[in-house]
Amino acid sequence: MAAMAVGALLLGGLALQTFSPEQFKDENTQGARSAQLVADALNAALAAANNPRETLDAFAGALRLPAPIAFVPPGTEGQRTSSYIYHGNVPAWFTALLQIPELGSTHPITIRTTHVGDIVFRPDLSAEILEKWVGFLALAASSIALMLVAGLSAYLTAGTALRPLEQLGAGLTRMRSGVYDSAIPLAGPPEISKSCAEANELAATLKRLSRDNRDLLRKLVAVQDDERRDLARELHDEMGPLLFAIRANATALSDPEAEDPPEPGSPVYGILSAAEALQQANRRVLEGLSPIYVAELGLTASVQALLRDAQSQAPDLYVISRIDHRLNELDGLLSQTSYRVIQEGVTNVLRHAQASTMSVAATINGDQIQIEISDDGIGLPPDLTFGRGLTGMHERVRALDGKLRLLREGGLTMVRCGLPLDHLIVR
Ligand SMILES: Nc1ncnc2c1ncn2[C@@H]1O[C@H](COP(=O)(O)OP(=O)(O)O)[C@@H](O)[C@H]1O
Ligand SMILES: [Mg+2]
Repeated sequence: MAAMAVGALLLGGLALQTFSPEQFKDENTQGARSAQLVADALNAALAAANNPRETLDAFAGALRLPAPIAFVPPGTEGQRTSSYIYHGNVPAWFTALLQIPELGSTHPITIRTTHVGDIVFRPDLSAEILEKWVGFLALAASSIALMLVAGLSAYLTAGTALRPLEQLGAGLTRMRSGVYDSAIPLAGPPEISKSCAEANELAATLKRLSRDNRDLLRKLVAVQDDERRDLARELHDEMGPLLFAIRANATALSDPEAEDPPEPGSPVYGILSAAEALQQANRRVLEGLSPIYVAELGLTASVQALLRDAQSQAPDLYVISRIDHRLNELDGLLSQTSYRVIQEGVTNVLRHAQASTMSVAATINGDQIQIEISDDGIGLPPDLTFGRGLTGMHERVRALDGKLRLLREGGLTMVRCGLPLDHLIVR
């Protein structure tokens, strides 16, 4: 825009430079001709006069510089510093730009072949130069005004087009972070408003897909839990009695008279200790498959039992826990998920962390359950890939629309999980 204005001014300047010399010449030829006529008339009058000196003096008194047409006695030509007269205060660069040509003319006056002076023509260009200067100023002012108007209208047009674009961008960013509810206002030119409408449609589709996905995950987790519970029941019902029978029969095989337990190294001792180990392993598998405690004991007591078990497996580990008692009032799916998250977190600390301290916290904070399992161990491997444990944890948490984060902060490895309490509200 500024370039256009400067361009217009330059063109104006160029036009002035090109056309003004001709114009000056045209406008002043009449003056030069008049000067010639005056000189001819004076020469004729002097030739016919009885006393030419007197006539010349009377004439010279009336036509004196700085009049445009004047009589100049010999030897005073030096008084004429320029070929035109100019009174005014237009900048010198502008008058230079006009390239005013030689306009003045000199016509000799003689009395009987003696040169007694000249009639000189020096036009007064003050008005013409001022007129051109005013024209130039008007051109500059209108260029600047045009530039301002064009700039303002471009700003306003871009503003009205940009605002809806900004809103569209903000809406897309919200969508990326999983917020699909706030609609993008339909504004701006038709193309942008159409894009906003399509983005809103996209948000609705994404919202539906995300809800379907969550429902599916919830079903998946529920099916998995049902299957595990069935498997646990089978194991419990089938293995339990069989193991009990093995132990009872092995005891019956040993010497009924003997009061002491069977000798270590004896076959009966071997069978009994193998059966006991199998029973313990069976209990561990059952616990892993289906934590019956949660339903029966409530979440806090189950977590305490889990931590006691962890402590017995790692006697040197310092275990800190903070479990909110209100967690006992959670519904089945929430307490099951909370338990599973804590269980997997604790198992991972025992298995992978090589920690000396482990801290487990489960609290209710506003409308969120917040679970954090932290340890001061070796930290997550840089190329961490989720195994069955973390994958299962993640699926369960997502099924309840929760958030799971693994992080290392202040020398602690942390598993942080937030579960919304209102997940049962159908969205
Ligand atoms: N507390 C932790 N400290 C260090 N590494 C961990 C911790 N928890 C998990 N990991 C890393 O994450 C990996 C994946 O864990 P997970 O999905 O539970 O599978 P798994 O326990 O069966 O290996 C582990 O193999 C381990 O390298
Ligand atoms: Mg694990």
